[in-house]
Amino acid sequence: MSMDGIQAGKKAAAIEAVNNHIKDNYIVGIGSGTTVVSAVDRIAERVKEEKLKLVCIPTSFQAKQLIIDNNLVLGTLEQYPELDVAIDGADEVDIDLVCIKGGGGCLTQEKIIAGCARELILIADARKDVETLGTTWTKGVPIEVVGMAYKPVLLQIMKTLGGTAQLRMASKKMGPVVTDNGNFIIDWIFDKPGNWKDINTTLQLIPGVVETGLFVNMAKYAYFGQPDGSVGVK
Ligand code: 5RP
Repeated sequence: MSMDGIQAGKKAAAIEAVNNHIKDNYIVGIGSGTTVVSAVDRIAERVKEEKLKLVCIPTSFQAKQLIIDNNLVLGTLEQYPELDVAIDGADEVDIDLVCIKGGGGCLTQEKIIAGCARELILIADARKDVETLGTTWTKGVPIEVVGMAYKPVLLQIMKTLGGTAQLRMASKKMGPVVTDNGNFIIDWIFDKPGNWKDINTTLQLIPGVVETGLFVNMAKYAYFGQPDGSVGVK
């Protein structure tokens, strides 16, 4: 798939999801990543054209900037602890709508917002629509950890679940990637797919783990866009 084709797929999925799932007076969770940019563009267009009254709750610094730059109404979970819908990207989505998120490192706030929303709607280009996780996404499961615990956590992950766990680096010179919450990210490349619910629980129980990028039983629908602009839903 060419870069233009991928971008066309992302845009088509985002537009279709926003058209189908955003309604007047909704409190909307705004996810993070490149695909969400097209979703926010379409939300802003609909707000202008249809005079929709929406409040948008961000999942990251990037999402907050998108909301502000598009003149949308920005809210917080303190003001709006219950959301109608959250729209977010994904790194890979399996046949049961279990997905890996956190390619951009925003998984903790994304999962909090998704957990507060009546519906989590995923948007992605068609490459990310897979039968089992790990088919096209080779970077593993992102896991947010408290900085001082990264070493014992990654050793514990490899001992308990196998595979390879490594600290995500911005660069050798810059050091580790630091999340919006001031933590580090471990990327766990698993050997083979397993029971994701159990794996998620195992990871969450390791002291120092803040959250995992495994979203199990959270998404209601996933929209996947093709390069020709057609969109499939699962
Ligand atoms: C960030 C995420 C993103 O939603 C995910 O990485 C997909 O990003 P993109 O839309 O750029 O492909 O989980 O933490």
